[in-house]
Amino acid sequence: MPATFSRPRRLVVLISGRGSNMQTIVNTVREQDLPAEICAVIANKASTLGLDWARAQGIEAKLVAHRDYASRSEFDQALAQVIDTYQPDYVLLAGFMRVLTPEFVERFNGRLLNIHPSLLPAFPGMHTHQQALATGVQWHGCTVHFVTPVLDHGPIVAQGAVQVLAGDTPESLAERVLGMEHLVYARVVRWLAEGRVTLDTMQRVHVHGVGSRSFVMMPDNGQSE
Ligand code: GRF
Repeated sequence: MPATFSRPRRLVVLISGRGSNMQTIVNTVREQDLPAEICAVIANKASTLGLDWARAQGIEAKLVAHRDYASRSEFDQALAQVIDTYQPDYVLLAGFMRVLTPEFVERFNGRLLNIHPSLLPAFPGMHTHQQALATGVQWHGCTVHFVTPVLDHGPIVAQGAVQVLAGDTPESLAERVLGMEHLVYARVVRWLAEGRVTLDTMQRVHVHGVGSRSFVMMPDNGQSE
């Protein structure tokens, strides 16, 4: 186990929409009384349900609207400056729908994590559930990973798998994957808060004291005969 912190780990969560993953993170920290604090929730769009929810929870909620900036780089610089004021140990992307510049990623290297709705390296980018159905995979899911300058590609912390069932639509599959996202991100946040997660010089993830970093959801029905 790496050196234990004498203080709670400081978390900043970035969202773009409803923020269900962010809500899971907040609820996990509070319900499990983890040695962590959610210093701020930051959104890049004004009309985000997640910001209202965070405010109602008494969490500092900030808007840094990307449309207020002339370029991606200027937005990322403004966002990074706001994040720095909280001095976070980790910055968690949770339904954050922006591609970040390499400069931003480097600035938070080793502290920036994301959840992607596929079993990476399969299906990077958008419309992952449509991609899964189109290619006929029988397993789909989500990945929590450290963010690197290459999109949806960084060192994997944990993955959760769900079966693809006959008759699945992108919507039904997305709903099942989202449930698994909440499970996986909640567990990763606990590991982060407990100081278990390290990234070695070869960019390999180690979660000390944890034997398995994979989760599987099996539906009650739909089992093969
Ligand atoms: C989730 O599937 C997440 O993986 C993707 O955006 C979706 C919405 O997430 N990036 P949330 O409900 O806003 O957390």
